[in-house]
Amino acid sequence: MLNKIITLTCLSFISIYFPKATHAASSNIELMTQNWPFNGIFGRFDNSSLKRGFKVYREVCAGCHGIRHVAYRDLEDIGFTKDEIKVIAADYEIIDGPNDEGEMFEREAKPSDKFVEPYTNDKEARFANNGSYPPDLSLIVKARNGGADYIYSLLNGYKDYPEDFEASEGMYYNEFYPGNQIAMPSPIMDDIIEFDDGTEATLNQLSKDVTSFLAWTAEPELEKRKSLGLKTIFFLVLLTIMLLGVKRKVWKDVD
Ligand code: HEC
Repeated sequence: MLNKIITLTCLSFISIYFPKATHAASSNIELMTQNWPFNGIFGRFDNSSLKRGFKVYREVCAGCHGIRHVAYRDLEDIGFTKDEIKVIAADYEIIDGPNDEGEMFEREAKPSDKFVEPYTNDKEARFANNGSYPPDLSLIVKARNGGADYIYSLLNGYKDYPEDFEASEGMYYNEFYPGNQIAMPSPIMDDIIEFDDGTEATLNQLSKDVTSFLAWTAEPELEKRKSLGLKTIFFLVLLTIMLLGVKRKVWKDVD
């Protein structure tokens, strides 16, 4: 029993402390690692970065990628007020219905709706993107090896084609994408948008903020999970100490 508790305590520490692999999905190229505030045992999201990241998503990525698991009202988590969220949602048109006459109709999105997708179906999405499908980004940070570091590296990994590389038409060279050819043109560059808080919109900053935002969409409950983890470890340590005391007392008279 005691051994089990000690092992469990150690395992919890190990799983929280040691991050996952930091290599690109299929190649061995080392990712550009960042010091993410949401990593580590005391990890927390930086809401001002998430808000900037949302702006990057909304003004750039949303043209091609959905975040279908996120509802507008979830943005309250990262510091938007209810009124701001109403205004954001009202920017999107949603198809609802049928109404009493059996017809579908368009209406403004409400805070309780999920984010509206950029394309109505797969075919339209592929047609607009040289045959490739822009994946939904809500869980992408969890879905790719290397997580946030991979997404950050991908956004910073566009280069000209090396001379001896056989380039396919309509594809772009990216150091970190498996196979190095990706159908997504480099989506961001310095100053492509302006941040409301005056932060300089460099390529690094834009990619860092949008990646943080996507880390939040992939795991909005991260802060709760980590604080629960900490409490559990604290409890297990306390229990271990108590049980050690009890053991000593019980076995005190036996040689
Ligand atoms: C013009 C459309 C377009 C825009 C804008 C765009 N993307 Fe993409 N994205 C694509 C397409 C198409 C793919 C699929 C690439 C492929 O299969 O080769 C893709 C793939 C991705 C992937 C998956 C890569 C992988 O490993 O499979 C990520 C992550 C991504 N995009 C992030 C972003 C982010 C973040 C933004 C905004 C800063 C963005 N994209 C803006 C079209 C776009």
